[in-house]
Amino acid sequence: MTTPNAHLITHPLVQHKLTLMRRKDASTNSFRRLLNELASLMAYEVTRDIPTSEIEIETPLEVTRGRVIDGKKLVFVSILRAGTGILDGMLSVVPGARVGHIGLYRDPKTLTAVEYYFKMPSDMQERDIVVVDPMLATGNSAVAAVERLKELSPKSIKFVCLLTCPEGLKTMYEAHPDVPVYTAAIDRQLNEHGYILPGLGDAGDRIFGTK
Ligand code: URA
Repeated sequence: MTTPNAHLITHPLVQHKLTLMRRKDASTNSFRRLLNELASLMAYEVTRDIPTSEIEIETPLEVTRGRVIDGKKLVFVSILRAGTGILDGMLSVVPGARVGHIGLYRDPKTLTAVEYYFKMPSDMQERDIVVVDPMLATGNSAVAAVERLKELSPKSIKFVCLLTCPEGLKTMYEAHPDVPVYTAAIDRQLNEHGYILPGLGDAGDRIFGTK
């Protein structure tokens, strides 16, 4: 069962890379490289509808018109620490984007989100936001991050993850039905520790080689 907020990215390159990342014997090096490549592919999908305007330019041969991205720079908001993995890939295709960070950790007992860091660019009310976090699991961190960002009245908010599950999508949809969730897969379920099954394990540990 899925919810209307889910946008599943089914491109063969995205699916191929995700499958390689899921394997438990993927090294830190290849996990990180694949995440980077995957995030840059997802950036195309997520930015598909950003506004453009026409400007006049001069080629070496003549004057012509072409389209450029309009308005204030997009903001990628990375949920620390695993969001960093997606952020790097997104910035490789949108290098002018601004970047915000939200530090949230999951209380291991209650699985609720606790904020410890929040730093955003200026003029957030004039910007479109893309929140990035590889795993939308319980949805608690994502809901808390979006709640905080809504206080700044941005023009729009989208959420990008690699993997999610019906529970995470539902939690997000109930709290923020206006926020689309872009994902490369909707897995079967959450386990009792808040991990996605079949999933890929702890994304942060796999990106940074920690345990
Ligand atoms: N966070 C992760 O890193 N992995 C999961 O499966 C769930 C949350």
